[in-house]
Amino acid sequence: MERGEVSAIGLIETARALVADDKGLLAMDESNPTCNKRFAALRIPETVEARRSYRELIVTTPDLGQCISGLILYDETIREGKKEGASFLKIIVNAGIIPGIKVDTGAKDMAGHHGEKITEGLDGLRERLIEYFKMGARFAKWRAVITIGPGIPSRGCIEANAQALARYAALCQETGLVPVVEPEVLMEGEHTLARCCEVTEEVLRTVFDELYAQRVMLEGMILKPNMVLPGLTCPQQEVVDVVADTTVKCLLRAVPAAVPGIAFLSGGQSGELASARLSAMNSRFRGHLPWAVAFSFARAIQQPALEVWKGQQANVQLAQKALYYRAKCNVAARRGNYPAAMEGE
Ligand code: G3H
Repeated sequence: MERGEVSAIGLIETARALVADDKGLLAMDESNPTCNKRFAALRIPETVEARRSYRELIVTTPDLGQCISGLILYDETIREGKKEGASFLKIIVNAGIIPGIKVDTGAKDMAGHHGEKITEGLDGLRERLIEYFKMGARFAKWRAVITIGPGIPSRGCIEANAQALARYAALCQETGLVPVVEPEVLMEGEHTLARCCEVTEEVLRTVFDELYAQRVMLEGMILKPNMVLPGLTCPQQEVVDVVADTTVKCLLRAVPAAVPGIAFLSGGQSGELASARLSAMNSRFRGHLPWAVAFSFARAIQQPALEVWKGQQANVQLAQKALYYRAKCNVAARRGNYPAAMEGE
């Protein structure tokens, strides 16, 4: 099926809307095992009902749509709703938020590539995308995982993941869904900032080569990359401005100007650091970047709320305030005004 003019315009409008008005995305698309792992760390029961209650807490947070343009859901969540009443999809749309869906089926060990992962989920993807579009989703997400270590990442791993991302993105656009393309270079490891920069640039260049080969319209997609950071166990950590400058320089080399927006993942950074680094990029490069520099965080927005909630109904309102606060911090970061804008809040 050829992509018609009307749907191309729709894709471009949705992609732009996802990064408009200094808002960003909130990822609440943890798979059941990942969600259960986060619950277990806080002794929250690992049940379907606990996951549903937590997701109800998120989507019913008052005024969430003032800070969040799009919510990324998981297959379980897109089919759920409030205990009594409306579906989550209806609540999200009524809040002025665009619903999205994670569509990869996870990163698995890559054959012949010890210590590396390949993301699966292409089989049957076209049919799943059509179903999600009919349900109301307007964008989708696929995460590839790249590990830095001795002798890795390999070319084979980078190319296989980049090609899968590009094939997923092409299928999304055919269906009318904006692809959020997420090649994540992990923070785990002893590598330096310079090594992360080198690997991130190679990964992004390869991803955009593959996107071109698969005829993906860059104006109708969002890139969701990692920030360029030293490994978690690297002895030399870097100050916020150095991280901001290195990340932006790396992206300028590898990301075409036609892409409307970059929405960073947080990758395990604290909420405060993720906001501070995003804010530094926006303040130091204001007016010099071809794309919007936004956020698509999960842990960096959700974690404080999860810790307040602890699975208890009595804590819902306080947890929602914690969630809204971190979302608002990131709107300030998009304006290059964090933490100053949040003082006294
Ligand atoms: O795929 C990962 C999520 O969408 C982003 O999660 O911000 O916790 O890294 P994160």
